[in-house]
Amino acid sequence: MKTMKNIDSCTHVRGESLFVDDLMLRQDALIGLCFDSPKAHGKIKSVDYSKAEALEGVVKIFTYKDVLGENQIGGIIPDEPLWAEDEVHFWGQPIAFIVAKSEAIAKKARALITIDIEELPVITTAKEAKAKESFINAPRSFKLGDSENTFADCDYVYEGETFSNGQEHLYLETQGCYAIPQENGNIKLISSTQGPTAVQKIAAKVLGIPMHKIEVDVIRLGGGFGGKEDQATPWAVMAAVAVQHLNRPVKYMLNRHDDLRMTGKRHPYSSFYKIGLTKDLKIKAFEVEFLQNSGAAADLSPAIAERTLFHATNSYFIPNVSTTVYSCKTNLPPNTAFRGFGGPQGMFVIESAIAAAADKIGVNRSKIQEANLLAEYDEFSYGQIATEVQAKKAWFSAKEKFEFEKLDQEVESFNQKNKHFKKGISLMPIAFGISFTNTPMNHARALIHIYQDGSVGVSTGAVEMGQSVNTKMLQVAQQILGVSPNKVKLETTNTTRVANTSPTAASSTADLNGKAVEMACNSLIERLTKVATEMLSTEENNISFQEDFVFIDGKKSSLSWEELIAQAMLQRVALSENAHYATPIIHFDKTKEKGHPFAYHVYGTAITTVTVDCIRGNYEIDNVKIVHDFGKTMNLGIDIGQVEGALAQGIGWMTMEEIAYSKEGRLLSNALSTYKVPDIFSSPKTVETIPLETDGNELAILKSKAVGEPPLMYGIGTYFAIQQAVKEFNPNYKLKFHAPFTPEKVLMGLYE
Ligand code: MTE
Ligand code: HPA
Ligand code: MOS
Repeated sequence: MKTMKNIDSCTHVRGESLFVDDLMLRQDALIGLCFDSPKAHGKIKSVDYSKAEALEGVVKIFTYKDVLGENQIGGIIPDEPLWAEDEVHFWGQPIAFIVAKSEAIAKKARALITIDIEELPVITTAKEAKAKESFINAPRSFKLGDSENTFADCDYVYEGETFSNGQEHLYLETQGCYAIPQENGNIKLISSTQGPTAVQKIAAKVLGIPMHKIEVDVIRLGGGFGGKEDQATPWAVMAAVAVQHLNRPVKYMLNRHDDLRMTGKRHPYSSFYKIGLTKDLKIKAFEVEFLQNSGAAADLSPAIAERTLFHATNSYFIPNVSTTVYSCKTNLPPNTAFRGFGGPQGMFVIESAIAAAADKIGVNRSKIQEANLLAEYDEFSYGQIATEVQAKKAWFSAKEKFEFEKLDQEVESFNQKNKHFKKGISLMPIAFGISFTNTPMNHARALIHIYQDGSVGVSTGAVEMGQSVNTKMLQVAQQILGVSPNKVKLETTNTTRVANTSPTAASSTADLNGKAVEMACNSLIERLTKVATEMLSTEENNISFQEDFVFIDGKKSSLSWEELIAQAMLQRVALSENAHYATPIIHFDKTKEKGHPFAYHVYGTAITTVTVDCIRGNYEIDNVKIVHDFGKTMNLGIDIGQVEGALAQGIGWMTMEEIAYSKEGRLLSNALSTYKVPDIFSSPKTVETIPLETDGNELAILKSKAVGEPPLMYGIGTYFAIQQAVKEFNPNYKLKFHAPFTPEKVLMGLYE
């Protein structure tokens, strides 16, 4: 199988890779800093900036009054001001933007601002919001069959409640932007964003100027994980407003504290389920009400809520389904995209319902999972008919290749022999839909230049954020043009070269942009084939391009790539190409909530074993063994890296990452001392990933399936493995579905 190192590995290791904060600033550059709300909800009575403004080195303090266009940054719903006007709706909401000669001066100035807020009631949970009918928009519901009338025919019916907490993105590089004035009022924004077009569009709107006056350039991100899909925008726009007024460069990088406090996270969900099964363990009916804690503004919440519904039945076929999601408006920072985009929250609920049912019926949880796995031509609740389904294949391959029965017995015999340590084991299947759920977003473009010396420059709308999309784009170009990798360079992501892009998200970036690269390269090859045919006096069909040479009938000719390009140049053949790709076949009708929204699904199964220390409540993850559907992977090394990274994030979400807000809406887990993410000691001792042998999918780039988000959901298996171990120690433990399963909760469960 092909593998190639991430093209950035060497510069990363040497510390030479450039991020926003590494850029050399212009001599006259200034530094920005936000003044944000110290209360979660209230009316702004007055703000006194006078002392701050008087401080030596403070150039100007911007507020909503300085906005020449619209003070509005909402992407899906226009409900979010860039800077608060008369009211604040969350702790950390931007109110003003201090621009000063240095960060130290800006910080001093911030401490001198005083504000008088008349406090209003604060809502921090989705349940409170629902009770008060505080919503972002109307609820959404998906329905298949008739769940309501099926429960009567079921042998077992159970109801319950689940909660999954939020999650901090903790990208290594915090949010930030460097804004530079150009001539004629044009502005260049070098932003750490997953959505260059979102930044450009909102900046133009707030500044009241056309989009063509704003150029957004992205070199790479030190991680995004969804946190920079929409929420990289405000900081870039603030810097842009300052440039518009001052005509001097302005840099704004958030420090970690400010970033943690002011940005949204994965959405916490409170959910209520009802599940009905027959004696043979078939799930006949499933209903869920999801309460999404959206925060104080819509941001991407409606789209995330939608994906929760799409994944509410995970990789199971359930003939009667009714799911509803409420996007609940609370006084938290607007929650946002996070790897999985609402899918993980949906899957946690069905897995919880299955665990609850198994516990009450008295069977192993995996028996119910196995009895309900998705098969070819099964219908999802949203009307898509499942094809090329790998659910059973992945499940049974995992059980077979990793000898599940043996692992299960080992756990059992360990538990018989040990009193104070107990092991638990779980199986976790996944099915994740690939495409933006919003069909119109599924398109991308690529611009390829072959320079006259034969070297190649590739521009796409894809943003490199560690997932190695640039490496994959390089591989596509290099393979189709038949040139060596060092002839191809990936350019920055820039709105003047590739416009109107969808964000780098939905795990679809390599597919969408890769297909555009493929199309552009194929067009160039078509032209070059004509030139080569003439030069070699042969037929077009005989020509191919490999190893930096033209091949005739599969044999290397004397004509090199460089000579061919030089000749094409003399013949005035166009050596640049721009291509546009839009995913075929997908569609979705929101009035009916039915359609075929996904190009394909990604499948897999993880087996997780844990050991719980039943005196202390600590636990260790012994191993995670995964069979994953990569399709025909184009880069196994990179793809396995994505599996392992996503798994670690999923485990963190399910076990130790605990976001906490006070009743007043202040973030308590506001530092790395109070918010713990998995480190080397809490990671699984071993992770094994075996690729599932499949044909891949035509809509995946080079049949290599999307891999960015799906493996995060393997982490959900850890929750249930821990739960099994707790139950093993304490048979009186009543199953709870309240993630993360922190050692404190484990300890309480062991002794309840
Ligand atoms: N991997 C790294 N190293 N850093 C990231 O920020 N983001 C994830 C995933 N893998 C991320 C990552 C998320 S949320 C998505 S949607 C995909 O990458 C996006 O990239 P892709 O579409 O190229 O898979
Ligand atoms: N996934 C990720 N980001 C998105 C989506 C999606 O389905 N839709 C809009 N933004
Ligand atoms: Mo990923 S959450 O779609 O950026």
